[in-house]
Amino acid sequence: PAMKDLFGLDDLEEQIREAYGLRKVVVVPGDSESSPDVKRELGRAGARALLQEARIGDTIAVTGGSTLAEVAEQMGSPAGGPLKGAWFVPARGGLGESVEIQANTIASKMAKKVGAEYRLLHVPDLLSDDAYQSLVQDPNIQEIVDSIRSSRIIIHGIGDAMEMARRRRLGPEAMEDLRKEGAVAESFGYYFSEEGTVVHRMLTLGLRLEDIVRTEIIIGIAGGVSKAQAIHSVLKFGQEDILVLDEAAAMELCARI
Ligand code: G3H
Repeated sequence: PAMKDLFGLDDLEEQIREAYGLRKVVVVPGDSESSPDVKRELGRAGARALLQEARIGDTIAVTGGSTLAEVAEQMGSPAGGPLKGAWFVPARGGLGESVEIQANTIASKMAKKVGAEYRLLHVPDLLSDDAYQSLVQDPNIQEIVDSIRSSRIIIHGIGDAMEMARRRRLGPEAMEDLRKEGAVAESFGYYFSEEGTVVHRMLTLGLRLEDIVRTEIIIGIAGGVSKAQAIHSVLKFGQEDILVLDEAAAMELCARI
């Protein structure tokens, strides 16, 4: 039997796929939260899933985070690249992440690795309403935002709501709001309740909910027991097609089914 069968991972994949109505689920053995090797494997599986779906001419929107940074790290780079003529773009503007794990950085890195093109969205992390309104009017910004909104593929990380709020240095009031609203997950700059309803959003430019809903292929990647609830919530939101996760998160998720 294949290595995977020995671990019983095929069963886990199938259970999760069926329970949430997904097209494909990939589970890598181990726990990426406690092992950097497993995180690398998670990134590799994510890269593989993306490259299987992507084709020339696609626009691919990518989010930030340490998991997506690992996907970028693991993207193969055959000479010339299999994705010449595809475009990588960040899913949103800055979300207050450090440079290494910002969507812009990851989009450019992925593009370089596979010989594709990229376009970046340079907007400050914290936008006031006024700044936001004038940026939306800017023709250059509009052009890149239009391209983001017409992506055929989105590849994104999933985070625990409070953990992400802390990492993005949300103030105590915003944190309290999130708690009251019952936010358990964060993805694409949106915060979701346990039932998968959007309860809060960050004011940044890029993918709107209506863009996410009509995107052809959405690939989510996350690992670790602590993310199981967040993964469940984003799956309840109901837009995922492909899920790449680790065994630790998969076991915990299955315990909830
Ligand atoms: O939106 C979720 C986060 O980007 C996930 O970040 O991959 O570092 O856990 P992470």
